Amino acid sequence: MTAGTASLAELQAELCFIAAERTGVRLDALRVDGIREVATSLLAKAGDAEAAFAAVHAADPELMARLEGACVVSETYFYRQPDHFDFIAETVAAMDPSKARVRAWSAGCATGEEAWSLAATLRAATVRELDVLGTDVRRASIDAARRGSYKRRGLRYDGQRASPFEPGTGELIHVREDLRNVTRFEVHNLLEPPPGLDFDVILCRNVLLYFTPEAQTRALSTLKDALAPGGIVLFSPMDLPGAPEGLERVGRSELQAFRRPMPRPSVLPSAPPPRPAARVETERPPPRPRPSPSVADDAVAMHLAALAHLDRGERREAEALLASLCATRPSYIPGLVENALLLTRNGERRQAAQLMREVLERTDGLDPHAVLPGPEPMTVAFYTGSARAFLERHGVTS
Ligand SMILES: C[S@@+](CC[C@H](N)C(=O)[O-])C[C@H]1O[C@@H](n2cnc3c(N)ncnc32)[C@H](O)[C@@H]1O
Repeated sequence: MTAGTASLAELQAELCFIAAERTGVRLDALRVDGIREVATSLLAKAGDAEAAFAAVHAADPELMARLEGACVVSETYFYRQPDHFDFIAETVAAMDPSKARVRAWSAGCATGEEAWSLAATLRAATVRELDVLGTDVRRASIDAARRGSYKRRGLRYDGQRASPFEPGTGELIHVREDLRNVTRFEVHNLLEPPPGLDFDVILCRNVLLYFTPEAQTRALSTLKDALAPGGIVLFSPMDLPGAPEGLERVGRSELQAFRRPMPRPSVLPSAPPPRPAARVETERPPPRPRPSPSVADDAVAMHLAALAHLDRGERREAEALLASLCATRPSYIPGLVENALLLTRNGERRQAAQLMREVLERTDGLDPHAVLPGPEPMTVAFYTGSARAFLERHGVTS
C-alpha cells in the first residue's frame, strides 16, 4: 500500500465512524462505496491527508451533509407494503368525527414516494384538512421529494390504490397539485427531537433496521414523542426486534402497527358510584359445532404462543417454538415466514433466505387467492409476495 492509498483508507475509515455516529446506521450497514467517493473527492480537494483530516475534524457542515447523504440506503417506491395504506385508510375513516385535521409524518421518506402515497391515501379516506410531512437525513432526497416528479419508466406503481399523479403520458410523471398543497418536506435526523408533535399517523419503515440498538432506542423515543394520544406508528416487519415499550399493538401482528395509548380519563371525586348494570336475560344461541382440532389448528396455536413470547420480550422461547414449528409442521407457511423474519432480525439472513425459498416452493401451484389458516387468515399471494420481496431486498434471486 502506498502512502496515498494508506491515507485514503484511513480517511475512509474515519468517515465511516463519523457517518455511523451521526446517522445511527450500523457500521456493517453503511454504504461504503458512497463513503469512499466522499473520501476520494475530499482528499483531492484538500490536497493532502492532513488538510483532509482537518476538514473532517472541523465537522464542516457541507461535508457532514454530503457524508450523511452518501452513507445511507435510499431504496423506496410508491405504496410499498400496500396493506399499511389500507390499514391507515381504515383507521382514519374511523377517527373521531369532531377532529378537523389529520397530521401525518413519513419519517425517513427518502425521495418522497412514501409521503406522497400517504397523502393520496389520506385524501381518499377523509375530507378533513390534511398536513403531511416527509423528512429524511439525506438532503438530496428531500430536494427530489420536493420536486415531486418521477420517471415513468421503472415506476413501481400498480394503479391499485388512489393515484398520487396528475394525468399525463410524458416521460416524467408529476404529483397531484392538491397533494402538493398539503405536503411539505424537511431535512431531519431521527436521532434529534421530532420536527413536530401530535401526529395521528407516522410511517417509519425500512429505516430502523439499519440502526444500532442504541440509535433505535433514540429514534423510537423521537417517534413516540411525536405521536398524538391515540396516534399510530407503522414499521416494516424487519425494523424492530419487538414491540416498542409504551405503545400498544394494533391490527395484525405483521403490520407492525402500534398506538400511543389515550390518557386514562380522570375519575371526578363528585361522580356518583356507578350503578350496577341491569342484567338483560337473552336467549343464548346454541353453541356452534367446533371442528375437531386439525394439524393447522395445532400449528396456529404454536404460532400464537410464539407471538405471545415475542410480545413479552421472551426472544429465546419464541425462537425455540418457531424452530420446532418449522421442523414439525413444514407445510405451515405462516410459520416459515414468521421464523424467517425472526432470523433476519437476529442477523441470520442466509437461514432466513432458505426459509423464504421454501415458502416459494411450497406455494408454487397453489391458488394465489386461497386463504391459509394462521393468526390472521392471509392469502397465498400474501406469503409469496412477502417471500419474493424478502429475497429481492436481500439480493437473493429466487
Ligand atoms: C431504505 S430507505 C426507506 C424509505 C421509505 N421509508 C420506504 O420504506 O420506502 C431508508 C431511509 O432512511 C433514511 N435515514 C437513514 N438514517 C436516518 C436518520 N438518522 N434520520 C432520518 N432518516 C434517516 C435514509 O436516508 C433513507 O432515505
